[in-house]
Amino acid sequence: MQKSILVFIIEWVSKIQKNLGVALRELRRHLYFYDFEVRKDDIYIVSFPKSGTTWVQVILYNLLTEGNMDFNHIYDVSPWPSNQAFNGESPEKINQMPSPRILKSHDSYDRFDEKARNKIIFVYRDGKDVAVSLYHHNKDYLDSNLTFDSNFESYFMIDKKGINYFKFMNTWFLNKNKLNILYISYEDLKSNFDSTVQKIAVFFNVDLTEPILSRVKQHSSFDFMKKNESKFGEIPPNLKSPQVFDNFIRKGEVGAFSNYMNDEQLKYYTKYYKLMVEPFKPKN
Ligand code: A3P
Repeated sequence: MQKSILVFIIEWVSKIQKNLGVALRELRRHLYFYDFEVRKDDIYIVSFPKSGTTWVQVILYNLLTEGNMDFNHIYDVSPWPSNQAFNGESPEKINQMPSPRILKSHDSYDRFDEKARNKIIFVYRDGKDVAVSLYHHNKDYLDSNLTFDSNFESYFMIDKKGINYFKFMNTWFLNKNKLNILYISYEDLKSNFDSTVQKIAVFFNVDLTEPILSRVKQHSSFDFMKKNESKFGEIPPNLKSPQVFDNFIRKGEVGAFSNYMNDEQLKYYTKYYKLMVEPFKPKN
């Protein structure tokens, strides 16, 4: 057999394998959400990955409950349905949780359940810092040889397939289905913590008394979360035996991108940020 035909067949088989994998994941997702019980009072925390989702999960959990931190993992009290679907789990446990459930989502706007008409917090962060955080996450979880540049390409280059920062932000900011969203930025939480938590409290009709604010502050502080990393870190997907990752609560800084991004990447980022994100940024 000619070498070129052999190469063609190998590529063809690997394409089928890849597409089969995608189709199987879609089927798993479909089956999961078929059994998932949607509730009118479900609360969602939505974000592009590495934007401060876990931080806001802890804040909201402490605002809406007594803030008991004795759980094994944040997902016990604030689960991530799409990830459960991805992992082939069943929604049985989530369906038995008391209301209101605080659910995490990284779904793109078009994939997000339009029936979720209750309150949603959308957390966003400077994409340049997201690029750094995401690079470390993927390097630590998926590929120890990963470079910042190739990771940047995967999530920020506009013509790449898959989740893209600019498209994600654009559609969530546009909010064409008029979902009930409170937009909160990572940077505001860093620089104006009290007033940003106050905004969240107003959105959820919580009377933010001094004891509640001090509990929120204590349990969501970087130091507390770092010390209790095992309650917040993810379980690496490719390890057979579950092992909680220990660099999920990593640096928690603003502006670290300048040590990672080159001029070309900065130029590219600024161009698409100005085109697709900035003009649509909600003013609340
Ligand atoms: P870095 O990798 O830049 O440190 P997510 O929860 O969406 O995956 O976001 C993770 C990012 O939020 C990480 O950013 C993590 O360190 C940061 N983070 C988590 N808890 C935080 C906290 N209490 N204060 C500040 N940043 C926090």
